[in-house]
Amino acid sequence: MRIFLIGFMGTGKTTLGKALAIHLGITFYDLDQLIEQRYMKSITDIFSKYGEDGFRELEYKILHEAGEFENVVIACGGGTPLYYDNMDYMNRKGDTIYLKSSIETLIRRLEEDGAKRPLIAKKSGSQLKDFIVELLAKREPYYLKARYSIKGDRLEDKKQIAESVREIEKLLNKKLD
Ligand code: S3P
Repeated sequence: MRIFLIGFMGTGKTTLGKALAIHLGITFYDLDQLIEQRYMKSITDIFSKYGEDGFRELEYKILHEAGEFENVVIACGGGTPLYYDNMDYMNRKGDTIYLKSSIETLIRRLEEDGAKRPLIAKKSGSQLKDFIVELLAKREPYYLKARYSIKGDRLEDKKQIAESVREIEKLLNKKLD
């Protein structure tokens, strides 16, 4: 079993991915963390040293390594599905799930927790909102190539997270029927 969680920054891929992996008794990986560990640099440092194009190359390489792992949930970066053959690759290698949150949820979460993300670190208020709206519109066609889609807005406490995990379990079980 190999599950890829995709979706915009702040949609809850890591939060849900960790809980899903525990529930299924498999291993959780966060693609950004794998990149940071392998290259011994933060995502911010990679962006400033190699630019976004350099980051996307490393992201591609690590995704294609992680795509060989067995029994894993992999939380991707928000941009992962847009580059190279990444989205088709994930659809070939496992179950892809688009975690879709409303613009309001994304703005709220990214206002609180945007600093570590180079694409938005210096943005706030209406500038952040406009950026999110525009980038999401560009990215959504890629996200919609995922096999499944679930809402990411309700991940605010343990109960909501557990409900979302069960929803994914149901989707995956249906496939086996
Ligand atoms: C990015 C999202 C980040 C990280 C990098 C670029 C993006 O991951 O990969 O900052 O292009 O949306 P998260 O989605 O986990 O924040």
